[in-house]
Amino acid sequence: MNRFDLAEQANHPRTQEDDFSKLVAHGLQRRRFLGVSATALGVTGFLGGLPFAASAASKHSPAGMAHNASNAVVSPRMGFAPVAANAADTITLPAGYKWDVVSSWGDPVLKGGQAFDAATRGSAASQALAMGDNNDGMSFFAMGKDHGVMAVNNEYTNYEYLFTSGQCASLEDTRKAQAAHGVTVFEVKQRGGKWQLQTGAPKNRRITANTTMRLSGPVAGSEWVKTKADPTGTTVLGTFNNCANGRTPWGTYLTCEENFNGYFGATAEMPADDTFKRYGISAKGAGYDWHKFDARFDLSHNPTEPNRFGWVVEIDPMDPSSTPVKRTALGRFKHENVEIVVNKDGRVVAYMGDDERGEHLYKFVSDARFDASNPSANSSLLDDGTLYVARFDAQQGALDGTGEWLELSAGKHGLTADKGFKTQADVLVHARLAATIVGATTMDRPEWVAAHPSGKQVYVTLTNNSKRGNDGQPVGGPNPRAKNSYGQILRWMPAGDDHASNTFSWDLFVLAGNPVVSPTSLKRGSPNVNADNMFNSPDGIAFDADGRLWIQTDGKYSNTGEFAGMGNNQMLCGDPVTGEIRRFLVGPVACEITGFSMTPDQTTMFVGVQHPGEDLAASHFPQGGTSVPRSSVIAISRVDGGVIGA
Ligand code: FEO
Ligand code: CA
Ligand code: CA
Repeated sequence: MNRFDLAEQANHPRTQEDDFSKLVAHGLQRRRFLGVSATALGVTGFLGGLPFAASAASKHSPAGMAHNASNAVVSPRMGFAPVAANAADTITLPAGYKWDVVSSWGDPVLKGGQAFDAATRGSAASQALAMGDNNDGMSFFAMGKDHGVMAVNNEYTNYEYLFTSGQCASLEDTRKAQAAHGVTVFEVKQRGGKWQLQTGAPKNRRITANTTMRLSGPVAGSEWVKTKADPTGTTVLGTFNNCANGRTPWGTYLTCEENFNGYFGATAEMPADDTFKRYGISAKGAGYDWHKFDARFDLSHNPTEPNRFGWVVEIDPMDPSSTPVKRTALGRFKHENVEIVVNKDGRVVAYMGDDERGEHLYKFVSDARFDASNPSANSSLLDDGTLYVARFDAQQGALDGTGEWLELSAGKHGLTADKGFKTQADVLVHARLAATIVGATTMDRPEWVAAHPSGKQVYVTLTNNSKRGNDGQPVGGPNPRAKNSYGQILRWMPAGDDHASNTFSWDLFVLAGNPVVSPTSLKRGSPNVNADNMFNSPDGIAFDADGRLWIQTDGKYSNTGEFAGMGNNQMLCGDPVTGEIRRFLVGPVACEITGFSMTPDQTTMFVGVQHPGEDLAASHFPQGGTSVPRSSVIAISRVDGGVIGA
């Protein structure tokens, strides 16, 4: 869901906007949530500032919030009763809510597709006609109250379920795996209160690791992306490891290529490319083994092929014959999602996280302005503009501060020819290396970015970072804990509400943690974390039209040790004004909850359940019994038909 859907929605209570305006007018009110001051703090100082560190009785009471008689926080934005953590193999929702499966891995999407065959798990040919695996980011494009198009990323695949043998051992297997990746576009209709995939509908489409796409922007045609098969460096086959997503106000879907490196390997000599290390490209690969059967992924034969991945790809979900476009001006890294904001001057700003330990947070600002009256005129807005990377500044030990966006342009800030940055293509293909040179802050794995519907604040999940404190990743500022197991959500406020401004202020909305297991260390988390809502590894985040922040987790579900009491991965709801966080959903065994979109009236929420039962854990979601577990898109609604979360 993104703010442009939200702007079109009428149901935006005035009182909530007023609350939020007051909050931002006073700056980022760190004390409300964190109970800490901006003065230098060690662990002791931080805990000393927690309003309830010594009192279990006040565990629900972050400083400065409104309370009711039972001392619970009162959020005017959340009307549901929280659900308890659990390890059940199903979806748990608050009382008064229900869910249905919209589509699962292997469901027939295109004409001629067959029902999922649990005995064989399908072939390369059947998979190419079916819903891909491991659904992740998604967007719903409404075509009417009960009809729309879903664009859903299929990030990767679990060989333990994709193949009855558990391995990719042939070209046929490789083609099947490639067909399980990419994006699935399909029409959905609501009938009898249930949203269902419409097999064979006109807008249905499979985009896979072999779909023809175009490269555009400064890198197109450069030496970096020329191959034997494509000497012009303009035409690429496919997209894969499509993690999260974005959508544009001109109606297109953006899919983000994340861990593309793992699909490449070398059967003989590795090319001498010293940039491969920073992007994790190795002779062995990550175990997908495509390079053993498809020479395109064999670095010994195609050393520049990996440069054609790691981009944001734009897709027209309404035209199945359109060519997807890789927008190179947005930089090459391990993209999580992209949050598009139209700035007050009309320029388009794209915020993006690079999900790896110690990598960075980026933004792109377009040169031209969005023209709402002429959608086709916006088709090259993401090709011309400026890329920036964030530096966060804080006094030692402080959990708030200021920051600066550092321009990544050839010839500026030390990005000189002698360092390898002669052209903008050099900078964009190796955005990570350029970011280091300009002094970007190393972050705790930036995942999704979400802008509040008012446009005044932007949030990013920093999911966790086992290496914080080592490898040149100093502890401090927005990354305050060494060996960070739990993660945090950072937010910033652009100076003057101007997303094109180079400066901002920031604070932490929440430090996740476990106050039961570690009540007296920084591992307990911020005061808005308590025994009833604790979680780890925030990943997906999105705002709805009323300013509720939906938080999805991709964390440890062992439910033991430092994760005891947290249960399965889950979805929570946060109030950006009061700081309260409530658990809304618990997923099935060994899954990740990822992917979020809503119908414009907010009465249906689409959520993704990814890799239930991964690593052969005992899950039979969603069909139960002894069925093969299958990643699925689910639709959540209220029994009374009301607005979700309210
Ligand atoms: Fe695909 Fe960073 O999660
Ligand atoms: Ca993710
Ligand atoms: Ca994650």
